[in-house]
Amino acid sequence: MIVTTKELYQQCYGKYAIGGYNINNAEQTMGLFRGNIESKAPFIVQISKGARSYTHKKMLEAMIRAADEIFPEAVFAVHLDHGDEETCYDCIESGFYSSVMIDASHLPFEENIAVTKRVVERAHAKGISVEAELGQLGGVEEDISVDEEKAHLTDPKQAAEFIERTGCDSLACAIGTSHGAFKFKGKQRIHFEVLEAIQKLVPGFPLVMHGSSSVPEEEVKRINAAGGKLEGASGVDPSQYLPAAKLGVCKINIDTDGRLVWTRVHREFFRDHPEVFDFRPIGKVFMEEYAKFIASRNELLGSAGRLDEVRAALSK
Ligand code: G3H
Ligand code: 13P
Ligand code: ZN
Repeated sequence: MIVTTKELYQQCYGKYAIGGYNINNAEQTMGLFRGNIESKAPFIVQISKGARSYTHKKMLEAMIRAADEIFPEAVFAVHLDHGDEETCYDCIESGFYSSVMIDASHLPFEENIAVTKRVVERAHAKGISVEAELGQLGGVEEDISVDEEKAHLTDPKQAAEFIERTGCDSLACAIGTSHGAFKFKGKQRIHFEVLEAIQKLVPGFPLVMHGSSSVPEEEVKRINAAGGKLEGASGVDPSQYLPAAKLGVCKINIDTDGRLVWTRVHREFFRDHPEVFDFRPIGKVFMEEYAKFIASRNELLGSAGRLDEVRAALSK
């Protein structure tokens, strides 16, 4: 059952967070749905611009529709990740996406508001939720001064004004995390005080945490032992997911960790089976491992075990 992110956030706000997981191919799609069904969690399928052009945007759509039939118990939103204005309109008109992200965070404040507002109007006319972004995620260099670091983070007062003026349904905030496998260089950390300040100004409003992969040490070790080169990789401490959820974070984005599972499984398999050239045996291992990984993340997010109550609430 495809629902909007807004509907999911009404269920989880302040209690737990829902995983925003990116997909690009059939194996990820199967693993994702299996993992969420096995752990009984509602979830958000995220599709980036890069994913839409990897095979074809219609291919991903068809795979998700098929997964919805294969797993009729699933409750999920279909969300465009980091969209520009044109891609948002394409997804809104497609009749398939239930949620889009307009990422105009690189633009000056007033322009970000103007673009976001236009997308909100078009999306809301079709019952589609909109996530926007304010602040600069990542790109924060090592050992910069406290003032410089603060300038990249979301300003809570601006966030409240932005939400009020755009009418967006959720806001991605820059609180110190960054995309990819190399996070938190130097003295950087998650700025819970920014989340707290935003929650005080806009209580009940859903926030989103991007760049939330945990980059497990063990995974990196195994990848490197099997020929990889990921020295110095590090991520978010996953025990911080639930405290963030209590402060209004409703979606926690995890993509890099899934890529690490893929890399570890494939590197180890081809190291240990140099004679094999059939991709199906390893594809099966990946789907199993990815499903296990998703279930383990849902436990940490607090979304595991919530599927029945969410379905009951949203089926009314
Ligand atoms: O935030 C970006 C996501 O991890 C998606 O990455 O644009 O390479 O598909 P991508
Ligand atoms: P990670 O790179 O930490 O997985 O973040 C993914 C993300 O924010 C997708 O929008
Ligand atoms: Zn992101």
